[in-house]
Amino acid sequence: MYKKLIVANWKSNKNPDEAVAWLEELKQKIDNIQLNADNFEVVICPPFIDIPVLNDRLKVISFKFSVKLGAQDISPFDDGSYTGAVSGKQLKGFIDYCLVGHSERRKYFGETTEMVAQKIEKLSGQKIIPIICAENRENIPAGISSLAPDAAVVMFEPSTAISINGVYRAEDPNEVNKTITSWKSIIGAYQMLYGGSVNPENAKQLLDAGAEGFVIGKASLLVDSFVGILLNV
Ligand code: PGA
Repeated sequence: MYKKLIVANWKSNKNPDEAVAWLEELKQKIDNIQLNADNFEVVICPPFIDIPVLNDRLKVISFKFSVKLGAQDISPFDDGSYTGAVSGKQLKGFIDYCLVGHSERRKYFGETTEMVAQKIEKLSGQKIIPIICAENRENIPAGISSLAPDAAVVMFEPSTAISINGVYRAEDPNEVNKTITSWKSIIGAYQMLYGGSVNPENAKQLLDAGAEGFVIGKASLLVDSFVGILLNV
């Protein structure tokens, strides 16, 4: 049984000061409540610019549960002349996880499944765990089968379920259950997360439907709604 992986995907939100304020508020709020802290691990995926300062703060703030950092993207190339790209070698030491193939990367930045495969290879080379986002099985590169079950995480993310303009529209938990069960039987024992409009009201139902964790966009931006989800894990 995996510990549930609760991933905050801040997308293009929060500058370094706001990121640190969020972390400090999280610490202050969770210290005063009862949580099943052994059941889950938190991963914060902030914008690149926030990663070093959060990494520094996490060395001095201790939480009741494990808190790790992830990136939202990685270059498909090594170091070199690739303007705007951040390589695995540069990220090494700062992060344990990295999202790849998020539907917003596919939609707005032209990320293809071939690029996702290249990114997974770069991450594996640095021992960073890819969180492979997929709307359907074709989005998951075939090469994943060469990775050990604990060396990758898969997220079922129907693009139609992602919150829009602050409005949640989560997938039916029965569909989440069907997809996760079928993917597990085909692609193996990777931890399977669900992403799309997860919030304090539906978190329990989605976990009961088989999600082994979440990728959370909107509801991760405010500490109160993020903690509201943790209370249901
Ligand atoms: P949302 O985003 O929680 O705002 O729907 C989820 C995601 O992008 O995976």
